[in-house]
Amino acid sequence: MSNPSLLILPGDGIGPEVMAEVRKIIDWFGAKRGIAFDVSEDLVGGCAYDKHGTPLHDDTMAKAQEVDAVLLGAVGGPKYDVLDFSVKPERGLLRLRKEMDLYANLRPAQCFDALADFSSLKKDVVAGLDIMIVRELTSGIYFGEPRGIIEEGNERVGINTQRYTESEIDRVARSAFELAMKRGKKLCSMEKANVMESGILWREVVTEVGKEYPEVELSHMYADAGAMQLCRAPKQFDVIVTDNLFGDLLSDAAAMLTGSLGMLPSASLGKPMANGRPKALYEPVHGSAPDIAGQGKANPCACILSFAMALRYSFDLGAEADRLEAAVEKVLADGVRTADLLNEEGRTPASTTEMGDAVVAALDASL
Ligand code: NAI
Ligand code: MG
Repeated sequence: MSNPSLLILPGDGIGPEVMAEVRKIIDWFGAKRGIAFDVSEDLVGGCAYDKHGTPLHDDTMAKAQEVDAVLLGAVGGPKYDVLDFSVKPERGLLRLRKEMDLYANLRPAQCFDALADFSSLKKDVVAGLDIMIVRELTSGIYFGEPRGIIEEGNERVGINTQRYTESEIDRVARSAFELAMKRGKKLCSMEKANVMESGILWREVVTEVGKEYPEVELSHMYADAGAMQLCRAPKQFDVIVTDNLFGDLLSDAAAMLTGSLGMLPSASLGKPMANGRPKALYEPVHGSAPDIAGQGKANPCACILSFAMALRYSFDLGAEADRLEAAVEKVLADGVRTADLLNEEGRTPASTTEMGDAVVAALDASL
């Protein structure tokens, strides 16, 4: 069997800086754990525009469709603000998501104990928190028709439509159940079945799919109650599955339970491929951070943790993902901090490279 394949797209700004640290970790797994990946690297975003006149070349798109997983840094920057909408760096990322048909967006909220003070909530509410929000990404109210602003009588009316087909709910529910099987076997589905028909259908279809996963404990919650519970006692959850709109809000809120943007990974998954693995794109939640780009200040952990998600969800290497997450946890516990993780005056922050090297050293220590 050939090695699992990984396409790396560092992108713009701090993207290449944080990706260089992930490269060290990929090399470590090859050298020390005998886990080799076929890694190829290509351009996306502004750097692709500079070379090809398009933020995503067709060849790169074709490659992304073939590999087991894509790992992306970040795209964009002020230099590209003048570009026409059709060739803006973000269009490269949107094209990837659309053509790979990535309908399940995974946003973990994981609180490393050493950073619990960064949370806006009490330390004991968030310490040890490890939950996953699965947001439906390609349908719902952001895409439904009819939409627009129309004239009605003597005023204007703004219209958006929440629309979900059974098959759209079914496939994202399956992604969520599959995840729950790899995690704590607990899934909470959130909608507003009390006031929305699309919510009633959502609840019915999720319940139906759940019959195929008898090991997973399924519960349902109205999304507004879910928002309250996320703030009150987030550790009651393991995996949460919800629609595009509620997921947008709930995943951003949950992310902030855990502190810095520099720590937040994400994944977007699509249909299972012939080998049973889902189409997958992994990327940090943050952008290209032009304010700190090129200065060695970026925190590489969000990108490193995105690679950990790839290990777990694309390559069935859950134990190695645990190892990598534990290495990040150890580095933080040892007090290594990039600038975004420092709130005391007078301490010299670790650079991007120092943070990456510390994670590699912690991996060595785990053997
Ligand atoms: P941003 O996430 O790039 O930066 C927001 C703030 O967080 C900045 O102060 C930045 O320095 C800080 N930050 C972000 N990542 C960090 C890290 N790893 N370590 C330390 N500090 C970090 O969002 P912003 O400023 O709104 O957008 C900047 C550019 O990035 C724009 O061109 C935007 O379009 C693009 N962008 C790209 C995304 C992507 O590639 N997925 C997502 C969001 C924005
Ligand atoms: Mg959002």
